[in-house]
Amino acid sequence: CGAADYKHRVSQSGFERPIDAGTRYCAVLGHPVRHSASPAMQNAGIARLGLNWRYLAFDVRPEELRTALAGARSMQFVGLNLTVPHKLLALEMMDVLDESAKTWGAVNTVRFEGRDRSGAWRPLYEFEETPPEKVRMHGFNTDADAIVRALREDLQVELEGARVVILGAGGAGRVAALRLAAENVSELFLVNRTLSKAGSVAAEIRRRHLNVKVQLGYPRGEVDLAINATSLGLLPDDPLPVDGRQFSLRQAHAVFDMIYRPAETALMRSARAGGSRVANGLGMLLYQGVKALEIWTGRPAPVDVMREALQRNVYGS
Ligand code: ATR
Repeated sequence: CGAADYKHRVSQSGFERPIDAGTRYCAVLGHPVRHSASPAMQNAGIARLGLNWRYLAFDVRPEELRTALAGARSMQFVGLNLTVPHKLLALEMMDVLDESAKTWGAVNTVRFEGRDRSGAWRPLYEFEETPPEKVRMHGFNTDADAIVRALREDLQVELEGARVVILGAGGAGRVAALRLAAENVSELFLVNRTLSKAGSVAAEIRRRHLNVKVQLGYPRGEVDLAINATSLGLLPDDPLPVDGRQFSLRQAHAVFDMIYRPAETALMRSARAGGSRVANGLGMLLYQGVKALEIWTGRPAPVDVMREALQRNVYGS
């Protein structure tokens, strides 16, 4: 009765099982990583599922990424999330790439898989007693779909036919631009401090999506959506990521900031004051994490529990 009773209590209250020799691990690797809300969110989801797992966070420098991946593999980690600056680097380090990682050109989720006696690759957590001899890294991207889901749920944006300005053409801006093009937005305006990066994203979209108009620089007139995919806003003294002489936030019906800490950036405050609908990046973080947990467990993730844990972590309530 003990185990069943315990499982029931865990699923009711969501408290964690104690760590023991059978505990399995997942982690986020980033540099820096201290700000990450992923451990709070994922451990809440893991507890609700009644799994004897823990989700950790490690600050790993890019030059150590390969070694860190190999270490996690040797220690039978179940899976990893990768965040800045690892998502592009990891593409080359995976043994196999899911379609999502190939399509969006970045890896934010790794599932470790072992080869069973029949030669089939199965998620590593399924090997409870003896670790398999061969373990491979399977790379996925769960960020791209999470952007679209968060935009729909938090801002009620109709993406098909929309005019959208994207600020930033680094890793996050590139995935956002490619993913929105796949939603058949009508026009994309790409803005970035380093123009050449926006240029190469634009070229890629023109190659893949003939029906989407892509331009570099700010739009004239109104847009349905503006997205901040730069890192400006993370620090209190950062300037706004938009050039107010070229673009007024009043031109944007909705403004999405990928930043979630602070929970309200100066960009969001200005946009709200100007009458735009606004949302931070919490929904995006939530949905990429939900999908990652589902990839690792093969089970539906407890979205509400994970959302509450995130909100407690970020808003303190
Ligand atoms: P991520 O994976 O989060 O996108 P990244 O690839 O390092 O991280 O991209 C950071 C983005 O923020 C880039 O668009 C970057 O502009 P550059 O491509 O010109 O570097 C933008 N960014 C960072 N600091 C900035 C600053 N001080 N002014 C303007 N843009 C900045």
